[in-house]
Amino acid sequence: TTTFGTYGTLELELSDRILTLTVNRPAALNALSQEVVAELWKAFTAVQDSCTHDAGWPVRGVVVTGAGGKAFVAGADIREMTSMSADEAAGYSRSMQAVTLLIEKLPVPVVAVVDGFALGGGCELALACDFIYATEAAQFGQPEVNLGLVPGFGGSVRLPQRVGLGAARELIYTGRRIDAAEAYRLGLANRVLPTRDDALAAARTTLGEVAAKAPVAVGLAKQAITGATGRSTAEGLEGEADAFREAFTTEDMREGTGAFLEKRSPSFAGK
Ligand code: CAA
Repeated sequence: TTTFGTYGTLELELSDRILTLTVNRPAALNALSQEVVAELWKAFTAVQDSCTHDAGWPVRGVVVTGAGGKAFVAGADIREMTSMSADEAAGYSRSMQAVTLLIEKLPVPVVAVVDGFALGGGCELALACDFIYATEAAQFGQPEVNLGLVPGFGGSVRLPQRVGLGAARELIYTGRRIDAAEAYRLGLANRVLPTRDDALAAARTTLGEVAAKAPVAVGLAKQAITGATGRSTAEGLEGEADAFREAFTTEDMREGTGAFLEKRSPSFAGK
C-alpha cells in the first residue's frame, strides 16, 4: 500500500478501510528483529497520521497477523540478542515498547489474529492490540525464563492486566505454553476460530462493524479505556469525562443524536 510505505519485513494490504499488517519473516517464524521493530514503528506512525478528517480516515481498523502458517510471531529475535550488550538490549526493549504504546494510542481498533506461535515478544505484540482472535492452532506463552531472560516488550505489565496477576505469574515463571482453549478461558483471546481464514474474516467483520461508527468517538473510547488501565478509579473516570466532553465537540455527535431523533441512519463525517 503506497500510502503507508513499503517494507522489507511487513506486508500491508488495505481493503474496505481495514488494514491488514502481516509480519513477514517466516524463515525466523516472524521474530521481531530490530528491522521489524523499526518497520512496525514506521507503519503504525503512517497509519496514525492518516487518522484525521483531513486525511479522510482511510483506515478504520487494523488486523495484525503473521505470515507462513506456523507462527504469529515467535518472539524477540534470539539470534540478534546474542550479540547485544545489556545497554543495547535495553534500547531494543524500549524501541518495541514504544511500538506497543503507539498501537495503544492509535485511534482505531487493532486486532491480533493469532494462528500458531505467539511467544515472548509475539505474545506481547498481541497484548498491545485491542483484542485477540485466535485459531485452534494458536499457542501462547512467555518463554523468556527458558533463555535466562524476562519479558521485555510489555508482558510484565499487560499480561497481568489481561489475565490477572495469578495466571500471569504462573505463565511468566514457568515459561509454559498454553493452547487456544486455555487462552480463551483466561480471557487472553476473545474468540477462537477453526482456521486462519476464519479468524481473519471474523476480525474483518468486527472491524467493519466498527468502521460504520463515528471514528472520533471510537478513538475517544479507546483512549479512555487505555488511559484508565492501571490507574485509580478516580483517575480513570477523570479521563472518561474528558473523552465524553471531547465527543460533544464533534459534528458526528450532532449527526448521531440528530439522526436518532429524526429516526434515520446517521452519516458520519469523521470530525
Ligand atoms: N528468534 C530468532 N529465530 C527464531 C526464533 C526467535 N524467537 N524462533 C524461531 N526462530 C527460527 C529458528 O531458529 C529456526 O531457524 P533455522 O531454520 O535457521 O534454524 C526457524 O525459526 C524455525 O524454528 P524451529 O526450527 O525452532 O521451529 P520448530 O517448529 O521446531 O519450533 C518454536 C517452533 C517452538 C516456536 C521454536 O522456534 C521456539 O521455541 N522459538 C523461540 C521461542 C521463544 O523463546 N521466544 C521468546 C524469545 S525472547 C523474547 O521474546 C524476549 C522479549 O520478551 C522481548
